Order: sequence, then C-alpha cells, then structure tokens
Amino acid sequence: MGHHSPLFYDKPLHLVRGEGVWLWDSEGKRYLDVYNNVPHVGHCNPRVVEAMHRQASTLNIHTRYLHDNIVDYLERLTGTFDDGLQMAMLTCTGSEANELALRMARFCTGGQGIIVTDFAYHGNTEAVAEIGTGFMPEARTTKRVKSFPIPDAYRPLDGLSGEALAQAYADRVQQAIDEFHAEGIKVAGILVCPDFANEGLLDVPPGFLEKAVAKVRQAGGVFIADEVQAGFGRSGRHFWAYQWYDVTPDIVTMGKPMGNGHPLAGVVARPEMIEAFSKEAMYFNTFGGTPVSTAVGMAVLDALEEDSLMQNAVTTGAYMAEGLRKLQRKHELIGDVRDLGMFFGVELVKDRATKVPAQAETRRLINLMRDKGVLISKIGVHDAILKLRPPMPFQTEHADILLHTLDEALTQLTEEVTA
Ligand SMILES: Cc1ncc(COP(=O)(O)O)c(C=O)c1O
Repeated sequence: MGHHSPLFYDKPLHLVRGEGVWLWDSEGKRYLDVYNNVPHVGHCNPRVVEAMHRQASTLNIHTRYLHDNIVDYLERLTGTFDDGLQMAMLTCTGSEANELALRMARFCTGGQGIIVTDFAYHGNTEAVAEIGTGFMPEARTTKRVKSFPIPDAYRPLDGLSGEALAQAYADRVQQAIDEFHAEGIKVAGILVCPDFANEGLLDVPPGFLEKAVAKVRQAGGVFIADEVQAGFGRSGRHFWAYQWYDVTPDIVTMGKPMGNGHPLAGVVARPEMIEAFSKEAMYFNTFGGTPVSTAVGMAVLDALEEDSLMQNAVTTGAYMAEGLRKLQRKHELIGDVRDLGMFFGVELVKDRATKVPAQAETRRLINLMRDKGVLISKIGVHDAILKLRPPMPFQTEHADILLHTLDEALTQLTEEVTA
C-alpha cells in the first residue's frame, strides 16, 4: 500500500468488529464511534446485512438486464427530492458520482469551467482531483477550475458579517466567472458540499449560496450539490442538506452513507440533463446499481425511516450541541462550535481573540480520545477542527460518554500545555 497510505491516529487502530455505534479492536477493547458516517444506520445493521444476504443468495447481475430492485429503489430515492430532480444514475463511489456530474454539466452547458471552494475535496479520479483545491496537485495546474474563499462566518472575509459578508463571498464567485471569461473559458458550473463539510462544517453566511448559484446560472452554468457526506438525513430536519437553502441544484451527487458501507453511490439530476447526456455518452457501470446494491440501499432507507433516525438527529443533535457549548464555556481552547443535525465541528484555537488555530493540540486531543475509547477526527484548512459525525443511531447516552471523555481529555491537554 506504500508508506504514504493514510491511517488514523499516531497508534493506528486494528478494528475487528462493529455493532451500532460501537467498534472493537483486535485486543477486545471497545470504542464509541463518533466519527464514521458511512455506517449510517449503524455498524452491521441487521436489516442491511439481511437484505444483502437475501439478494446475494438469489441473484446479482448488472443493469443491462431488467430488475425490479433498481426501479423500486430509484423511485424511492428520487421521492426524497424536490420536484424536477427525478432521474438517477448509480455508481460505486462518490468520486465516480462527481466525475459523472462534471461530465454531464460540461456536456449540457458546453462549458468547461468549474467553480469550487479554495479548500475542496470531492474525490480521487483525475477530473475530480482537478477540483480538489485543498489536497490535490492537479488542482494547482488546471485551467478548468477556479476557487473562491471558503464562506466562513467564524473567520470572515474582510471582517464583514451578515448580508455584507454573503455578498462579499458571492462577489468572489463572480470574480471567478469573470476570470474564466477573460481566459475564453465558458462556465460549466459550481460544485460545493452544502454543509462545506471538508472545509470544516462552516457557518455559511445566510444568502451566500443562493446569490452565488444565481451568478453561475446567469453565466450559463449549473449548480452541482455534492451530498456525499451531507445527505441521507444527517442534517436532521431535511433529507438533503441543500434543502436548508432556498435553491434547488441541477445535479446532486451522493455516496458514503447510501449503502451503509457497501459501495453504492450515484447522481440525481434534472431529467432533461440525464436524457441529453446519456443519449450521446453511453453510461454503464458494471457494479453500479446491481440487485444486491439496490437491496442494500433500500434497507438503509427502511432503517432510516423505521428507526426515526432523522428525528433522532434533531433531538440527539441538539443535546450534543448544547453539551459541546457547555464545554466551550469551560475550556478556552474551544473557539467555536458548529452543528447541523448529527454533524458537529469544534474549532480549537490557541487564543479566542486572535483565533490562531491550535493544530498540534487538536492532533494530541484526538489521540487522547482514542486512548480513552472514543473515536473522533479532525478537518479544516488548519487541521484544527474536531469532526464529530457518528452513525445516526447515536443516542443521548452516547453523547454523554463523548462529552464526559472530551471534558477529561481537554483538561488533561490543558495541564500538559501549561506544564
Ligand atoms: C464531499 C465528498 N465528496 C466526494 C467524496 C469521494 O467519495 P469516495 O471516497 O466514495 O470516492 C468524498 C470522500 O471523502 C467527500 O467527502
């Protein structure tokens, strides 16, 4: 795998078993999982395992034969969208979904230019690496991609706030459009995660996204919402995170939680876009949308609904957020707490006034938490934001364990720093 294959933690974890929100390592130690969003309806969810087993024991084949599963699944999936987004294509990974969305956007608009944030990650294929401004060498040399500053109310552009801040970020999107035009490149679209999850689960100035999308549409481009992390009810009140905004995407991409760990991902788009694209560009994905994958996808939707997991994201999410804010009042290191349903970003700073990112402290903290049996991770431009994003069956009793352990770890860290 090579020496640079990424691993979590200074002392990497060797996991052997999972159940619900719990994981066990090879020595039998139990960990509370407050990080993994892929096992969306819980590790080894029995409904999902049973559906997978049942279909795998009956038939697994690709989508060039008729099968009820894919039709039933896509009807159910597209039923979660606003009117107008009623057609879908399935893939195996979020990267493939974004790649397909880029191809579709470029094909349908006749443009090449894509606008993303200046700290974006949307996957690992060549075209998707080009838009990976936060992590990928391809993004530094491409002419087809421009970025705008991450829309962050905690570290605002030019010290602005409210409406003026939203306008300032939207103006930077307009600047990207103008630069494309000056270089003779037509705009194909804007692609963002509506939660701005990899950027650090940002507090987006209200009105920014609506303004930015309007500018892109005026320039002939489309809006692609990358819901690979944000979707499937994680934000609680809405099934899709874009539904928090007053704008409907032309294309939505999804993955990670969709198959609870089974490789299932896809694109939902305006029917006329899918029809126009697929008429010219034959799209076939050997493993995308098989009877097994779609049985798994359906079981995930069943579990979300039958276990009222979106409602749980609202109530347990609010409980967690309140607990995190209480810790913020106690620990100087916590500069900002952000929450959206069952997704939390806790920004650590050396000093609340200067907001200097506490990068080394963040790394130490997640390792301390690991040693204490709670799994979390970090994210953001400065790698100083705790990323808490547990499986959706996470309950208040689990939140209590997280909050208690985090309190302990923060106290220990503060003692270490001041020693
Ligand atoms: C927002 C977002 N989009 C796309 C991807 C790529 O998904 P995958 O790893 O399934 O290709 C990721 C993965 O981390 C992601 O966070």
